[in-house]
Amino acid sequence: MTLSLPNGISRIHITEEQISKRVTELASEIVRDSGEYIHALIILKGGAVFASDLFREIARKSDIHIYHSYLKVSSYGNATESSGSVVLSHDIHEVRGRDILIIEDIIDTGATLSRLAEYLLNERGASSVRTCCLLDKESRRKPECTVLIDYRGFPVDDLFLVGYGLDYAEQYRQLPYIGVLDEDMIS
Ligand code: IMP
Ligand code: MG
Repeated sequence: MTLSLPNGISRIHITEEQISKRVTELASEIVRDSGEYIHALIILKGGAVFASDLFREIARKSDIHIYHSYLKVSSYGNATESSGSVVLSHDIHEVRGRDILIIEDIIDTGATLSRLAEYLLNERGASSVRTCCLLDKESRRKPECTVLIDYRGFPVDDLFLVGYGLDYAEQYRQLPYIGVLDEDMIS
C-alpha cells in the first residue's frame, strides 16, 4: 500500500533510508569516541525517536552501557520560532563528574543547547558535555551560541521540518521520514 503525503507536508526532505544510514554512521562515531559507558540526556520530545534508533545502532556495534534520562527544554510553545528563553522541566540525575552526551533532534538558533550545556557544566557539575543532533539549521545560529555539535546528522536549510520526532504543534512526530511543512500551515 502506498500512502500519499499527509495533509500539511509539501515534500519529503530526508528519506527513511537516508536517516537510517546516517544514524548508523553517527553510532560508529560515538562508539569510536566513547569508553565503557555513555551517559545520555535526551531532549524531549523530539530527540526520543532519534535516540532510540541511535542506541540500538550503538548496541549493534559495541557493548557500551548506555544510561539515559530524558528532559524537557521548552522554548517554542506552538510557534515555529524559538522564543530564546529556555525552561527546564524533569529532574535529571547523576550528572556530577560525568561526561554527558546530549541528544537533540535539531539545532536552530542554538539557544536550547547553549543554555542546557551551560546548566549541566556550571550548575550540575558535569565533567564534559558532548552534543549529538540529527539536524543542523546552521544558517540560523545566533552568535551567542557557545555550543559545538560533536555529532551531526545532516545540515539543513532554513525550512520548517517535521517527522522522525520533530513536530509542528504536536503533529507529525510519527512520520518515519523528515518532511517539509507547508508554508500555509504556519500561522
Ligand atoms: P533552538 O533553541 O533555536 O536551537 O531550537 C531548537 C529547538 O527548536 C529544537 O529542539 C526543536 O524542538 C525546535 N525546532 C527548531 N527548528 C525546528 C523545525 O524545523 N521543526 C521542528 N522543530 C524545530
Ligand atoms: Mg526540541
